[in-house]
Amino acid sequence: MSTTEYKPGLSIEDLPPELRQKAPLKLASNENPLGPSPLALQAIRDSLETLNIYPSKQLEWQLRQAIAASISDQLGPEHIVIGSGGIEVLEFVARSHLTTPHAASALPRQSFPFLARFSGRSGNPIHFFDLDEVDFSYHPERIAAAITPETRLVYVCNPNNPTGTYSTAEQVQQIMAIVPNDVLLIHDEAYVDFVDAPDFPDLLPEVLAGKNLFLMRTFAKIYGLAALRLGFGIAPPAVIERVAGVKRNFHINKLALVAGLAALNDAEHRERTVANNAAGKQWLTAQLTQLGCRVWPSQANFVLFAHETVPAQAMIDGLMAQAIIVRPAFGLDNHIRLSIGTPEQNARLIESLTAVLQQV
Ligand SMILES: Cc1ncc(COP(=O)(O)O)c(C=O)c1O
Repeated sequence: MSTTEYKPGLSIEDLPPELRQKAPLKLASNENPLGPSPLALQAIRDSLETLNIYPSKQLEWQLRQAIAASISDQLGPEHIVIGSGGIEVLEFVARSHLTTPHAASALPRQSFPFLARFSGRSGNPIHFFDLDEVDFSYHPERIAAAITPETRLVYVCNPNNPTGTYSTAEQVQQIMAIVPNDVLLIHDEAYVDFVDAPDFPDLLPEVLAGKNLFLMRTFAKIYGLAALRLGFGIAPPAVIERVAGVKRNFHINKLALVAGLAALNDAEHRERTVANNAAGKQWLTAQLTQLGCRVWPSQANFVLFAHETVPAQAMIDGLMAQAIIVRPAFGLDNHIRLSIGTPEQNARLIESLTAVLQQV
């Protein structure tokens, strides 16, 4: 495989031997550079001897209870559904709401593409809307134009992947005002733990008030458990019941359940992760700007950037030749979405990108 044949989504294990010898670095999937939560790892080790036993329903209930309690004392397990990764949670939402061939979704074009892929496979209609061409904000009137009488789902990703930009509480209220009550609004909060903007929305009161709203979160990023597959949704009990109705038994393995329970108590790892991310994001933004890149302000654990003159693919290929995996941003040709690493990883990225830009 030549470097130009590299397809986004590859992991280090997929690289050809000549690149694997170069201490590969992947900054492409918004993974936690500090590794998994140590408390989660200990819980996994402690459970290994009982892998011959099926996971108990009780354990799943406990995790739902613990997730609810970690967010608000007004939430209970009846407000939580868990899945094998946030992607499975989104799949449950889609399967439980797109129940006829005509049931449609209104989806942003420059955002996380899972629901688009799901609907593409199932044949359900998708009505796309574009984010703002300059600042990637969501326009309520464009969302409204994408909603038809057949629409069952509207998706908002906040902070938005791949742009890192966010919608304020006021903007989300405006969106909620135009989504009909019988249409489920999904507010994907996969990166919420990295947010420090004071005007970011807190939608728990809306959930508690019974609004047709579904908040999605994941253990993959903040707790560094991407490979274990664990995510959850927060919604009014009636929505949770409907979404959970499509699950099969034992869809989450026991190690994920015990790790999730332990991770929720790992405040230290969470705080180190947030601090590393904030410092790395600031440093990378300054360095990339100095290299002639435009960097968008991010509330997540990645940044979106583009060079003034050098095409994104040339940078991606040049970095790949040095065994650094970054990826183009979905829906945004000529932009790179770069995950924040450790200080050493960030420094290597900048050193390598400087060399790449000198060569093109
Ligand atoms: C916006 C968004 N939603 C959902 C997910 C899915 O998360 P998980 O890895 O838990 O399936 C991701 C993962 O990158 C994401 O970026």
